[in-house]
Amino acid sequence: MTEPSLTLAEFRLLAAAGGAAPSLHNSQPWRFRPTADARGLEVYVDPSRAVPVTDPDGRARYISVGAALFNLRLAAGHLGREASVRLMPDPAAPELAAVLDLSRPADAPAADLYAAIGQRHSSRRPFANRDVPEAVIGELMAAADAEGVTLSPLEEAGVRRVLALTADAEERIAADVARHAETRSWLRLDEPAADGIPAAALGPLDHEARVPMRSFTGYPQAMPSERFEALPQVCTLTTHGDLPVDWLRAGQALERVWLVATTRGVRANVLHQAVEWPDTRALLRDPSEGPGHVQLVVRVGYGQPGTPSPRRPVAEILDLTDRQVDQR
Ligand SMILES: Cc1cc2nc3c(=O)[nH]c(=O)nc-3n(C[C@H](O)[C@H](O)[C@H](O)COP(=O)(O)O)c2cc1C
Repeated sequence: MTEPSLTLAEFRLLAAAGGAAPSLHNSQPWRFRPTADARGLEVYVDPSRAVPVTDPDGRARYISVGAALFNLRLAAGHLGREASVRLMPDPAAPELAAVLDLSRPADAPAADLYAAIGQRHSSRRPFANRDVPEAVIGELMAAADAEGVTLSPLEEAGVRRVLALTADAEERIAADVARHAETRSWLRLDEPAADGIPAAALGPLDHEARVPMRSFTGYPQAMPSERFEALPQVCTLTTHGDLPVDWLRAGQALERVWLVATTRGVRANVLHQAVEWPDTRALLRDPSEGPGHVQLVVRVGYGQPGTPSPRRPVAEILDLTDRQVDQR
């Protein structure tokens, strides 16, 4: 059975869900366009939202769009549609990340994960000294696995190794004038930072300068220092390949893991510094785990939920034809 065309309101709901995804520096590098028959959605990587110094290959851009894609799949289920996804369908058009065919009814929408989209925020404050139980970690691993990606929770030695690599990478980022200027260009300094600290008051050493995140470098920070959990719980997300299609999978896995965590009251944030340099990125991989490419480092734990960060209006990320606009 074929479902009718989607309405404008339904396309807007889809775009709002996609647009709520996490992205590097909150760059939101996505665009959505209804298919010609209005029974599907094209998902584009938006090169005008690139972060070229920090992300020269566009890896983080595709990961961010992958996260948006997972939200779109959930939103499709919420609308009673099955999302049949083709990743990178046109080799001649690498900016076309995916096409969603939404013409069939959904079997069983994952309602709790859809509801978690608006509750998920980056939590960069200290977490409690209370471990996320193994059963919940198992659920997070299964969530990544369902997207063809491996989530590996690290043992103490691994955590210390990864945090040391993050410190090394952050030190280099702090010394890189071009990167620093690029990062600041993505900040909205007129707005209060998440967690109530004015963005403009934050010092130059914070990778994501809006946030009171621990400086792993040991340099003084321009914010009150806070005690973080004694041993952070850190996981890596690893893919087999290292092509745009793998980055899209990693992004979908990131969002699935993060939303499952949200439904369990577990907070998370991304530590991206070490994957931004080829040498520290290569060292992130635990050789005992076999081949693979680390795409992201994620910290999980219990603590404050984090606050919402601004999003572009739906009208800016949803491309409509003149005829569709006339229907407003
Ligand atoms: C590829 C990628 C890299 C990111 N890197 C970092 C990071 O290094 N530090 C950090 O605090 N947040 C990082 N984030 C999280 C974003 O800053 C965050 O998703 C964005 O600001 C929107 O906020 P929200 O997650 O609360 O919705 C990253 C997210 C993605 C998808």
